[in-house]
Amino acid sequence: MPIRRRAVLGASLLAARRAAAQELPPLREIAARRGIGFGTAIHARLLGEAAYAAPIAREAALLVPEGEAKWDSLQPREGRFTLEELEPILRFADRNAQAVRGHTLVWHTALPAWVWQAPAPRLRGILEAHVAGVLALTRGRIADWDVVNEPIADPDVLPHQDLRDSIWARAMGEGYLDLAFRTARAADPAARLVLNDYGLEASWPRADEKRARLLRVLRGMLGRGAPVQAVGIQAHMPLDQPFAPSPFAAFLRQLRAMGLDVLLTELDVIEPAGAPLREEDIPARDAAVAARAHAVVSTALAEGCRTVLTWGLADPWSWLNLWPPARRPDGAEVRALPLDGAGRRKPMWHALARAFEGR
Ligand code: XIL
Repeated sequence: MPIRRRAVLGASLLAARRAAAQELPPLREIAARRGIGFGTAIHARLLGEAAYAAPIAREAALLVPEGEAKWDSLQPREGRFTLEELEPILRFADRNAQAVRGHTLVWHTALPAWVWQAPAPRLRGILEAHVAGVLALTRGRIADWDVVNEPIADPDVLPHQDLRDSIWARAMGEGYLDLAFRTARAADPAARLVLNDYGLEASWPRADEKRARLLRVLRGMLGRGAPVQAVGIQAHMPLDQPFAPSPFAAFLRQLRAMGLDVLLTELDVIEPAGAPLREEDIPARDAAVAARAHAVVSTALAEGCRTVLTWGLADPWSWLNLWPPARRPDGAEVRALPLDGAGRRKPMWHALARAFEGR
């Protein structure tokens, strides 16, 4: 190759390197500068795909398994506790200096058949054994646990009761919440014990009522001495629900005044299923998604939230591509997350960066 051509190539390579160097650092770094932990939910079975795993290694300081720490993975048969499915995530996290959150010890679903089939009087013992058995295996490796997921009833489904209808609630009433948290505290004195739920962000009556229900249930638990330490706000946010910062901020202040930490645990933005499809509509769609993410995250951070996780990092692998209420009838990919399938940073990525920087 003639020398001159080589010099030109060298110069453009240098320019490319410089451009890369000037590129914003990963979200985990931007967040960490402000004392914020940023992370994402992941699937163990996809970690072998570089397009999936490389951005997760780069951008996230925290990982949470999408399914590998649910009951059916951790105790598929009674008394057989196993980290088989979770272990690849714990190893990936070690390699990339990431912490792993646990999700979730007690939930109304993702239960193996043997739990569904158990007679109601056995459920108290089954719940205790699960919480204690799992934490005996994860103690020292997972320091942040969603102890109970989604215990609050949706007001449109159950207008007259705070507690979701589940096998746990039927067998024990609100007492199952206390039991789960007390058992967790005894089994792992160092872990942060979190109650996680959804439908808590929007500015409309249904969310007002769900927030009120959660506050009532938490006051009851704290009054009885149940060791709940934090509330995880899932923040799966439908764009067709209005959002204004003040009711959400007021709710977060109430939680903080009760001595609880707040986390955003499952952030993504759900477009209406009829969102326009043309290529030229994508910038407007991405801008709306980014604006909502920015509004919710900056409100939470202003109220003392220091942990933010998105539910997945890149659009092609979002659970919303499969979840019937969000799935696009035409099969088109959702645009709910910070990155696209090629690892490119979308407006939502920049919205999170700005929120972390306090802008
Ligand atoms: C979802 C996972 O993303 C899916 O892969 C799985 O099939 C079903 O569960 N709220 C929660 C999460 O708390 O556990 C759910 O995760 C998404 C909604």
